[in-house]
Amino acid sequence: MPTIHLIISGGIAAYKALELIRRLRDAGWRVVPVMTRSAAHFVTPLSVAALAGEKVYGDLFSLTDEAEMGHIRLARDADLIVVAPATANIMAKMAHGEADDLATAVLLATDRPVLLAPAMNPHMWDHVATRENVKTLAARGMHFVGPNGGDMACGEVGTGRMAEVPDILAAIEKISGARPLAGKTAIVTAGATQEPIDPVRFITNGSSGRQGVAIAKALARAGAKVTLIHGVMQVDAPVGMNAIFARTADEMWTAVQQVLPADIFIGAAAVADYAPVEIAGQKIKKSGEEMTITLRPTVDILKSVGNHTRRPKLVIGFALETESHFENAQAKLAAKKSDWILINDVSAMHAEDNKITLLSSAKNIEWPAISKDSVARMITEEIVNHFARGEP
Ligand code: CTP
Repeated sequence: MPTIHLIISGGIAAYKALELIRRLRDAGWRVVPVMTRSAAHFVTPLSVAALAGEKVYGDLFSLTDEAEMGHIRLARDADLIVVAPATANIMAKMAHGEADDLATAVLLATDRPVLLAPAMNPHMWDHVATRENVKTLAARGMHFVGPNGGDMACGEVGTGRMAEVPDILAAIEKISGARPLAGKTAIVTAGATQEPIDPVRFITNGSSGRQGVAIAKALARAGAKVTLIHGVMQVDAPVGMNAIFARTADEMWTAVQQVLPADIFIGAAAVADYAPVEIAGQKIKKSGEEMTITLRPTVDILKSVGNHTRRPKLVIGFALETESHFENAQAKLAAKKSDWILINDVSAMHAEDNKITLLSSAKNIEWPAISKDSVARMITEEIVNHFARGEP
């Protein structure tokens, strides 16, 4: 997973680091936070850890972390190091090669690109010492975003406000480079639909939505404009992504039609194949007798997309199978006019990992059991290759 080490140094703008973490994770980044001691005066390590979903690193001499990782590895593991906010103090230390805490040690040991988002009082920013430090760091190839002008928290007016989160994200995207799916649009369905029987009962399938969300994020990371159309999920839809909730198969199909056309369609949703013909207006009382619910087939969304006049260039479906995986998937590939079918075994449904085979008319790729995020990355890579090769 692409990883950013986010160094939070001690300034009032440190609170914006929380929003930055959320947005980075939504964009598919893993964020490993490193806090300086003074940063902890402005934001709590607990909230940083909760948002990052990672432990917060801070102590250079923590024996367990040294054993687990070591600050040199921490410095080299990342794709990118972001310092936000970057105080005058941490920039001065960087300019002079000081390494008296984990944050500065990481910055001294790293060979990864570094992006700084300075934030400080305007007089500190204007001071010749800071100016020279910035010049030194820029000459060494460090990237900068901001600071901006305007009212400062300290009551003064001038340049020193940390760049806004969207600007920092844009700078990160620019530095991290390749957005191979930029300009492409994608629709991803995820989660389980619910087909109501009465106001409290419904028919559904087991699906957490995790794999679909991971794919949506990975496509977004690669630059695609993604719409996530989802039923009920055990995970949140990524903040900042265009997400549409659709409870039933019919609602999901309506939403898909509204969003079409798109370049890519991925049907990761567990759509209920049948829905009750009648939905009782009141809760059905138990009678003690056997009862029968008459079901009608729902719309097959993947098949309808495959046959649509505005058919996406690449239509991808899943095949969740318990037996004869390959034969069943082959049949689905043809029946649903899909370009690829991703076969997954039912055992993956509630598991952390997923074992997928990609089946197309031309090839078949079998991946080992890997995390759902890794599956999403592999699929995205295949999609990127597909468009790069100019395949029909
Ligand atoms: N799918 C869909 N609409 C439906 C049913 C399924 O879009 N009404 C999509 C799923 O999102 C998935 C693919 O079709 O991408 C295959 O789903 P799966 O449950 O494996 O197959 P079914 O078509 O339901 O066939 P069966 O139940 O016979 O295996």
